[in-house]
This record gives sequence, structure tokens and C-alpha cells, in this order.
Amino acid sequence: MDNPFANATWYIDPVWSAKAAGEPGGSLIANYNTAVWMDRIGAIAGPEDGDGLGLRGHLDEAVAQGANLFMFVVYDLPNRDCAALASNGELRISENGFQIYQEQYIAPIVEILSDPAYQNIRIAAIIEVDSLPNLVTNLDEPDCAEANGPGGYVDGIRHALQQLGQLDNVYSYVDIAHSGWLGWSDNFSQSVQLIGDAVSNLGTGVNPIAGFVSNSANYTPVEEPFLPNPNLQVGGQEVRSSDFYEFNNYFEELSFVTDWRNAMINRGLPSNIGMLIDTGRNGWGGPNRPTQASSSSDLNTYVNESRIDRRSHRGNWCNQAGGVGFRPQANPHPGVDAYVWVKPQGESDGISDPNFPIDPNDPNKKHDAMCDPNAQNRYDNSYPTGALDNAPHAGRWFPEAFQVLVENAYPPL
Ligand code: GLC
Repeated sequence: MDNPFANATWYIDPVWSAKAAGEPGGSLIANYNTAVWMDRIGAIAGPEDGDGLGLRGHLDEAVAQGANLFMFVVYDLPNRDCAALASNGELRISENGFQIYQEQYIAPIVEILSDPAYQNIRIAAIIEVDSLPNLVTNLDEPDCAEANGPGGYVDGIRHALQQLGQLDNVYSYVDIAHSGWLGWSDNFSQSVQLIGDAVSNLGTGVNPIAGFVSNSANYTPVEEPFLPNPNLQVGGQEVRSSDFYEFNNYFEELSFVTDWRNAMINRGLPSNIGMLIDTGRNGWGGPNRPTQASSSSDLNTYVNESRIDRRSHRGNWCNQAGGVGFRPQANPHPGVDAYVWVKPQGESDGISDPNFPIDPNDPNKKHDAMCDPNAQNRYDNSYPTGALDNAPHAGRWFPEAFQVLVENAYPPL
């Protein structure tokens, strides 16, 4: 099938849905599909840990709901989150991580998905958020340099795609970060090569990937309605040369994923590949949303008064005061299979307190200064992180963040 999201009945995660419905205004979004994250080996079995339903529990629930679209995230590579600390994982390359990933993580997932009870469910697999992008831009980090070698991210992702690609009802979408990370022309061309190579020649009998997913767990808008042209001249300079855009060619996900898809088709991937965009938190509504382009002739004033992305810096990734974006929907644009909610609203990006307690589920998760509201952005220390305070560990429920997202939803709820 070309687009598994089209004409589907999308699964509602009852665990997330109950938490969302328990927050003020939360019932307005609680009945939409969100991804289920398999963020450690223990999450596959689920109930034994007392945390979540487990993969089989979710699929049984999907059957009970009469749903035929289930989306989950494959997220346990060795050296996970190699350029940050908030989502460091349980496996290490130097501690036999690749073998454990294959045998104790991917194999049990594939075994469960192979159950004939689930054969009528279209299973969208989001593959390893932020991993290959880190190999493009962050090789100066030792964990990323190691992840660029044997038993690292490319080997892990190829293994996952080869195994999942044996199942005709699984549709794999590989993560490509977002335009504010890979949009510069040098990053873009290196990513086309590295990620393109990683997903090519997967072997006979393996279904090709369904496509790619952008903006997972990030906040970059689908479109910047008042900044449609990065080359527009204001005060004698292109808007892309403003402080906020730093000469990046892409201000928004739609043009980024469109060009990405074309680049991949040009490299030989099938022309029916489709893109997904995580729109869970990139709506940027609320009282500070601009309603028209600025009339300033000063470049930075023009950009800052026109952009809907209200972050002080595009590199701010942790617990931002964004808003719920477009509701999940199939075929929103040509080449885009769906808008999806990969990062469930209300789940933290990382703990804010530098003197943090360990999370028993994922004891390797640490405090990243990008999640500290009192710290400066480490990519450009002239900007604050913009992170919300009192945040728990990544993935844990964060009611204040949920509230902000609901209040700033766009389109309004
Ligand atoms: C983060 C966490 C992960 C969680 C996911 C979704 O990346 O590391 O544990 O499941 O976000 O909230």
C-alpha cells in the first residue's frame, strides 16, 4: 500500500489518552493518535515493569478498538542521543550494544509484530529519532564518533530496516531531524548521502522503506506563513541571513521535506516514498503569534516580528513553550503521507534540575543544560535555552508543558 495512513482508523493510546484527558482542556486532543515509544528493552514487555502496556498490549488494544493504523518509535540504538544527555539510553557500543540491540530489542519486536493476530494492522515504524543526523553534524562528540563506526547507528538502523522489512504490514519511516538542523546546504547534501546510503541496498526480500519523518519531538513549524521566501531582501539583505535563520535555506518543514523527498527519489528510492511531519508541538498559536508580515526595514526586526516560531534560537529543543500543531491527518500535501504526533504532548524532553534524581526506568538519562531554564543555549550562548522549569526526566509526564501546548494550539482547538 502506498500510504498506510490514508483511509485508516488510527489507534488511540489509552495510557497517553487518559493522562491527556485528565488535564484541563486535554479532552480536546485526547482522542488523537500518538506514537508509542519502545524506548528500552523493558518497554516491549511493558507490564512487568509496571510502566505502560507493552507492545503486545498496545496491539491487542488496537484490535479491540477496531483500529488498523498503529504508529510506534524504534528508539534504543547503542550510544543513543550521542550529542546530548537527556535521552541517553541503556546500550553502549563498547558493551556489546549492537548484539544486544539485535537479539534483545529488534528480535522480540519483530516476533510480536509477526503475530497473525495483527496482520490487518498497518504498522508505521518511526526509526531512531535524531540518530543519523547526529552522524552528519556531531562527530566531534566522542559518543557520536563511536556511533559512526562498526556496530553503531548505520549498522543498527540497517538491521532494524532489514528485519522490519520482512513484514508486509510494517511501514518504516527513517528520521531526518528537521530543517533547523539539516537545512543548511552543506548539512543537507551530506545528509542526503549518509542517510541515503544507510537506507539503500537493504537486500533481496526486504521491503523498501515507506519514507522519512521530520521534526520528531521538535518544534519547527510546517510553514512560516509570513516568511515564504528565504531570499526576500529586507534592508538590502536576504531574510535567510538574519540572526534567527543563520543562512539556513529552510525556515519550515514543508519545503524541507519536499526537497528531501525529491533528493531521495533522484538517488533511486521508489517514487512512492512519502514524508511524515511531527506536528504535535509546532503550532505556535497563542497571543504572541504574528498575524501579518512585519513592515520593518530592519532585517532582524522584520524576521522577529514575522516568524511564528517564537523560540529565541532555532537550536532550542528542550521543553519549549510551543503549541499543538496540525491534527494528525493523511495526505495533507503532495508527497506528505501524513501529519503525525510522534512526541506525545505532555511528555518531557528532559529533566530541568541539574541535581536530579535517577529515573529507575532509564538510569542513563541525565540532565542536559539545554533543559535548564537558567542556562544559555550551548550552540550559541547569547541566547537562553527557553526550557520550561520543573521538568521531569525525558518521557515522564509534565503537566505544565501539556497546558502550554494546549493553550498555544494552532489551528486553535
Ligand atoms: C524521549 C525519551 C523517551 C520517551 C520519548 C517520548 O526521547 O527519551 O523515553 O519515550 O521521549 O516522550
